[in-house]
Amino acid sequence: MMRKSGFCVVLIGCLLLTGANAQQPQLEIQPNEKVMTREVGSSLALTCRPNVPDPSLVTQLEWRDRFDRKIDSFNRANPVYVQHLPGEPGAVLIFPSLTENQAGTYTCRGFYANTEPLLASVDIKTYVGISFVEAPENQYPIVGRDFRVKCKVKGNPTPTIDWNKDDLPITTNEKFVVDSEELLIKNVTEADDGVYKCTAIVLMTGDIRTRNIKVEVQVPPKIQPMDTITIVEGESASALCNATGKPPPSYQWIKLRDRQDLSVADRFEVKKITGQLIINRVEYESDDGLYQCIAENSVDRVNTTVRVNVLVKPRIFQLQNATDPVKANTNLTCKAYGRPPPSVTFRKLSRREPFKVGQQLDDGRIFLEQEYNPEKGEAYGTLLISNLTRSDDGLYECVAENTAGVAYKNGHITTLFPPTFARTRDLPPVWSWDNRPGNLTCLPEAIPNATIMWKYGDIEIQDNNVFRKIGNGPVSYLIINPHNDRRYFTRYECIASNNLGKASMFIQLKQGFVPGSVSQVRKEYVTATTIKWSIIPANNFDGLPLKSYTVRYKPERELSWDYARNHTWSFGAPYILEGLIPEETYHFQFAAKNEVGMGPFINAESVTMPRRSVPTQPKILIESNRNKIDNTANREDTAAASPYADHFELRWSVPNDNGDPILYYLIDYCITEKFNGEWRDRDCVNDIQRSIQYTSFELDKLRPDTTYKIELRARNSIGDSWPAVLRVKTARGIDPIVPMQTPAMSSSAIIGIVIAAIVVVLVLLDLTCYFVNRLGMIAMCCNARTKHTDDEDPKLGSYKAAPAHPSSLNLPQPIKLATTTTPTEEREPLQQPMSVEFDGKFTHSKSGEIIGKHSAV
Ligand SMILES: *[C@@H]1O[C@H](CO)[C@@H](O)[C@H](O)[C@H]1NC(C)=O
Ligand SMILES: *[C@@H]1O[C@H](CO)[C@@H](O)[C@H](O)[C@H]1NC(C)=O
Ligand SMILES: *[C@@H]1O[C@H](CO)[C@@H](O)[C@H](O)[C@H]1NC(C)=O
Ligand SMILES: *[C@@H]1O[C@H](CO)[C@@H](O)[C@H](O)[C@H]1NC(C)=O
Ligand SMILES: *[C@@H]1O[C@H](CO)[C@@H](O)[C@H](O)[C@H]1NC(C)=O
Ligand SMILES: *[C@@H]1O[C@H](CO)[C@@H](O)[C@H](O)[C@H]1NC(C)=O
Ligand SMILES: *[C@@H]1O[C@H](CO)[C@@H](O)[C@H](O)[C@H]1NC(C)=O
Ligand SMILES: *[C@@H]1O[C@H](CO)[C@@H](O)[C@H](O)[C@H]1NC(C)=O
Ligand SMILES: *[C@@H]1O[C@H](CO)[C@@H](O)[C@H](O)[C@H]1NC(C)=O
Repeated sequence: MMRKSGFCVVLIGCLLLTGANAQQPQLEIQPNEKVMTREVGSSLALTCRPNVPDPSLVTQLEWRDRFDRKIDSFNRANPVYVQHLPGEPGAVLIFPSLTENQAGTYTCRGFYANTEPLLASVDIKTYVGISFVEAPENQYPIVGRDFRVKCKVKGNPTPTIDWNKDDLPITTNEKFVVDSEELLIKNVTEADDGVYKCTAIVLMTGDIRTRNIKVEVQVPPKIQPMDTITIVEGESASALCNATGKPPPSYQWIKLRDRQDLSVADRFEVKKITGQLIINRVEYESDDGLYQCIAENSVDRVNTTVRVNVLVKPRIFQLQNATDPVKANTNLTCKAYGRPPPSVTFRKLSRREPFKVGQQLDDGRIFLEQEYNPEKGEAYGTLLISNLTRSDDGLYECVAENTAGVAYKNGHITTLFPPTFARTRDLPPVWSWDNRPGNLTCLPEAIPNATIMWKYGDIEIQDNNVFRKIGNGPVSYLIINPHNDRRYFTRYECIASNNLGKASMFIQLKQGFVPGSVSQVRKEYVTATTIKWSIIPANNFDGLPLKSYTVRYKPERELSWDYARNHTWSFGAPYILEGLIPEETYHFQFAAKNEVGMGPFINAESVTMPRRSVPTQPKILIESNRNKIDNTANREDTAAASPYADHFELRWSVPNDNGDPILYYLIDYCITEKFNGEWRDRDCVNDIQRSIQYTSFELDKLRPDTTYKIELRARNSIGDSWPAVLRVKTARGIDPIVPMQTPAMSSSAIIGIVIAAIVVVLVLLDLTCYFVNRLGMIAMCCNARTKHTDDEDPKLGSYKAAPAHPSSLNLPQPIKLATTTTPTEEREPLQQPMSVEFDGKFTHSKSGEIIGKHSAV
């Protein structure tokens, strides 16, 4: 039922419509809307067409506005115009851009067949669309302040505004206030950065517009505090002005003194972006002072002031030397420049410590003054010395020092003084003999240099055939040719003078003679083969110094002195005569010798040599320090310390064999302990034999921290000597590891190997000797060896006289000792003992001095 009737209505409507079209001429406006709502500013075209059976009968088709005024066709001045359709009747009303006051009813009119009026109208309504009036897309709030984010919109009807930030809606709260035109952000912080979305909506029209507003919070520049900048003149330096701020600030540097912008100044560079200031080849005069750094960004411009301290290294620009006589006052002034003004002091170059300001504690005559002139940057140091002495003479270093550096300059004080002979006062006389000229030297000290004059008695000496002067200052030699004339052997006066005074000195010329006869000779110590003499020179001993003594000797049975042997000692050496034959009686004659020649021989007492006997007691050598032998330790109580815990090297010097060759040495050692003041021995090892080739023996496998008693005897065919006794205490614990000693040990090991090799060679030599001469023996060949080292020894002649005498076979040993300083041995550090060992009672220790026949004339 319902469906049927509905269908029917539609059908009727359709019929009505077509029926009307067909029947009634009328006008049609397209778009076909009774009311047209359009946005202001949009364009609109309304087409009016007749709907008539014969369109050609339509006339006067026109548009009229709301005031019923006809609207003209196109004219630029008109905001609205009409255009006719080409080829058919129809008028188009065109609004190029709708305005609000164009709203109203517009009517399209015409006539059909000249009589029937046609009419159609349309109502045009306008609205204003949403537009952003003031809503910049970038807005810059400043930190710490309130800021209004602008989003001002226009629209009719009025739109409403919504705010979003990061897709979250913003509502009014303690931070934000949402307003119709803006968003108030209170107390902006950097966290308020972001994109704010401003959305405008007109509910009625459904119009919606959004705008993204980028909010960038800005921070005014803030310059980090800067410290004073210190630069040394001539160097380059840079200062950094570091400011925070958003956007990052740019920088400017200004030298305050002349308000110069340093970005354009010579020697300066300004990095606008980083704030760095670079100063090249800094100058004190122009660069020292205050500088200003300005940091600027869109928010603010701030500045700060910084001090640049230019330091100048000290420079000494004046140091005058001083020359003044003794007892005068003098001063040495040193002037220096520097920033800050340096402190100026002095140091005598020969001393380490500089002088103190003010009076010196150790020398009240010396005073150091300092003065400053800060404006000029100068400082002066003055060293005042009163009552000048000669020791003040010398170089003085001026030291100028400030924080930038130090400068040195040497000046000198010259102390003038009258001539003096203080250092050459007690010269020995000058000797002349055999027509040799005497050479008198006069060397006074004086500043300025002295001029020298010589006097003989009261007469000034001129050159002649006796005298010749060489030089008259600062040194002068007087050469005297006395021609054996006694008058010239006298004293001469040397007179030195300069502008401060004069001084004179006497020099004696003496005639040289051979020494007088020796006044006394005593035998001091006798063994079977040796005699030690004590010699006293001539009584009135005022001649040339003695150089040597010579002894001539012969066995009593030889009547003539023609074949006498002789021996010469240098003056002061131990006067030991060796190689004598036991039980033989000798006659001796002694003479002294000086540069002129040898004096007369005089007889000394005859000596009958004792019988052969056991060797003398050997002497144990103790190395107290490295390379230094202490041979005072033969007292039985002495406990020497061994540097090692487990071994000890016993060393000794060869004793006198007393006429019978030493066969070997015997060594005993025991552990010894002291009980109630008495030594008790135990665990003894006895009778270790040591060949005579050696003068040392290594005791090993000892116990640490234990005292050993060591006895050493020398044995010859007659018997054993008295034992030399030594107590040694070994070191505690393991051997100390002394790095310095390791190479020494290894080098001594090498020496040991070398010595062993030499020994092997010697033994071979000895065997050769034996087979060639049939009277070999080690001693025989040793004899030959020592001859070589002692080839100046006149005594060797005496060996030849009695070659087969058995007692002479052993002589080399003491001789060898007496020449321990032969060059080969000097090179070996362990052989360096500079001791001469002769017998058990007398020890002659000389360090490095050449002894015996070496210095004989
Ligand atoms: C602004 O905020 C800062 C820290 O965010 C705060 O210290 C300051 O007191 C605030 N100022 C005002 C006026 O609220
Ligand atoms: C500048 O100062 C800031 C804050 O004190 C610091 O983090 C930055 O490292 C400084 N820049 C330079 C180049 O020193
Ligand atoms: C430096 O800042 C002070 C205030 O802090 C201002 O008076 C002065 O004019 C500024 N100087 C320059 C060169 O901008
Ligand atoms: C001072 O003496 C030194 C030499 O000792 C010399 O080099 C220097 O030139 C002298 N100074 C003056 C100012 O004469
Ligand atoms: C230092 O000596 C000079 C002459 O050598 C003299 O003119 C000057 O006055 C002296 N200065 C002082 C402080 O004694
Ligand atoms: C100067 O020094 C000497 C010693 O060097 C002294 O004997 C003398 O009294 C001093 N003179 C003065 C004036 O101090
Ligand atoms: C005098 O002795 C000196 C050194 O003492 C020497 O330099 C000079 O040459 C000698 N003169 C003569 C003529 O011998
Ligand atoms: C003083 O004598 C020395 C040594 O002969 C010489 O070097 C020096 O130049 C002399 N001085 C003067 C001022 O003549
Ligand atoms: C010492 O003896 C040698 C020969 O052995 C002889 O030539 C020399 O003249 C002698 N000297 C003295 C001072 O008798």
